[in-house]
Amino acid sequence: MNIIIRDYISGDYSAIQLLWAETGLGSAQRGDNQQIIEQSIAMGGRLLVAVLPSGEVIGTSWITFDGRRLHLHHFGVSPAYQRKGIGDKLTVESLRFAKQKGYQIKLEVHKTNVAAIGLYKKHGFQFLGDYDVYIVRDINSIDG
Ligand SMILES: CC(C)(COP(=O)(O)OP(=O)(O)OC[C@H]1O[C@@H](n2cnc3c(N)ncnc32)[C@H](O)[C@@H]1OP(=O)(O)O)[C@@H](O)C(=O)NCCC(=O)NCCS
Repeated sequence: MNIIIRDYISGDYSAIQLLWAETGLGSAQRGDNQQIIEQSIAMGGRLLVAVLPSGEVIGTSWITFDGRRLHLHHFGVSPAYQRKGIGDKLTVESLRFAKQKGYQIKLEVHKTNVAAIGLYKKHGFQFLGDYDVYIVRDINSIDG
């Protein structure tokens, strides 16, 4: 499949929102928006975008950097284009970035997500342990 993988530009945002909605990756609760995306890039992360020659956005891999590790988020391919090797290409580019930057790369994936787990394992990600994941969603709930 003839696709281009390139860096995010701000004009991609509305197409990316649609893609994340159709792949189950977007939710208002997560608090991801254009400002957060661009801030993460300014901090040394990357949002890789897979596009068709027509310019249509059909995949994303969002890599954030916290100064210690890289984290892979919002990895998705539009349902109409899944199982055509685009996930493979996005993973290869994401790992190339990690190697070039020189930091470990980590991700969270739901234990029932067979497709994504297969993809990540195929490219060398190893299961880290039986951790549960916690978050404070509502910062107003914090005392003090
Ligand atoms: C996971 C996802 C990104 C895979 O993208 P894709 O473009 O379809 O993947 P590819 O065609 O490049 O396949 C690469 C590998 O992924 C695995 N894979 C992909 N789809 C699979 C499926 N339905 N069942 C099992 N393994 C699958 C296989 O290991 C495959 O390698 P193979 O073809 O040599 O068997 C895609 O299914 C997706 O967008 N899912 C919804 C969003 C999501 O769950 N993202 C992960 C969040 S952590």
